[in-house]
Amino acid sequence: MNIYPLAKPLLFQFDAESTHDFTLKSLKLAEKTGLLSIYPVPPACQPRQVMGITFPNPVGLAAGLDKNGAVIDGLAALGFGFIEVGTVTPRPQPGNPKPRLFRVKEAQGIVNRFGFNNLGVDNLIENVKAAKYKGVLGINIGKNFDTPIENAVDDYLICMRKVYEYASYITVNISSPNTKNLRVLQEKEALSHLLATLKLEQTNLANQHGKYVPIALKIAPDLECEQVSEIADLLMEHEIDAVIATNTTLSREMVQGMKNADETGGLSGAPVRVKSTLVIQQLSQRLQSALPIIGVGGILSSADAVEKIAAGADLVQVYSGLIYKGPKLVHDICRTLG
Ligand SMILES: Cc1cc2nc3c(=O)[nH]c(=O)nc-3n(C[C@H](O)[C@H](O)[C@H](O)COP(=O)(O)O)c2cc1C
Repeated sequence: MNIYPLAKPLLFQFDAESTHDFTLKSLKLAEKTGLLSIYPVPPACQPRQVMGITFPNPVGLAAGLDKNGAVIDGLAALGFGFIEVGTVTPRPQPGNPKPRLFRVKEAQGIVNRFGFNNLGVDNLIENVKAAKYKGVLGINIGKNFDTPIENAVDDYLICMRKVYEYASYITVNISSPNTKNLRVLQEKEALSHLLATLKLEQTNLANQHGKYVPIALKIAPDLECEQVSEIADLLMEHEIDAVIATNTTLSREMVQGMKNADETGGLSGAPVRVKSTLVIQQLSQRLQSALPIIGVGGILSSADAVEKIAAGADLVQVYSGLIYKGPKLVHDICRTLG
């Protein structure tokens, strides 16, 4: 039975971050009490081979919902084919002051300016180790807010070395709008240096651990067409394993005049859908299948997921759609994509 349509009006009575915390705590409780076992299994799906990994279904949880990897088993019970935790940083940090999460209900959007609030990479690893989940796990890494941007590479290296053993793939997040100057890392010179360094480290770690863990780069939707091509070229040059498109947008074009539209932060959900799809299309044209694309941004229905696949995505991820449509969305997309 789908109870989300009944629960949603109640959940939306409270401020967005309190609801977010309550939902994660409820999932944790359901995990502990064994209640999750009664949640229906997702419809049968054709497994996908992407980045050399077998994905039981193509629908993943996008980064940011479980920043500390604290509720992996609870989220896995919802039927995702893969789960991405993080963004995690080397050291714990509180993120921006509250309030920092806002619904733009009229447009089925969300604005967040969390600023990578997380308990640090060591805590995340302990949580991953404690989880029973054996499925595909992406670990999304970032930099601390007070690490100078010139030293950002060091933070990615610290996180990469620590999470390598525990991740199915590692996402390098250079596209959050809520960490000052982070998106500068998408520029050609800085990105080339970052990718070269991480690729070298990946080779070292693969030798050390006897296993190859793919790297995915997560990019913003607010890029000019030439920048997307430039990034695609660098991904191929440095043999990066995948690209995740996209993160949240700074644009407010789709939500002008709506409540909370002018809050500072990244906008996600339905208003970012078209922008994300365009970036996927541009990437796909340039990459010509040289590496896979994970499509994310504004998937609120199975038709939206089909749009991402048609644009060139191999897999999809959802976040805001879960908030507006509930966990049934995951099963709906699985059924449609088959
Ligand atoms: C509240 C919130 C927090 C997020 N935090 C992160 C994060 O820590 N790291 C990251 O890579 N993306 C983060 N994202 C971006 C999502 O992973 C996703 O790329 C984006 O929201 C677009 O997808 P959606 O429209 O399905 O939400 C966050 C999104 C939201 C709504």
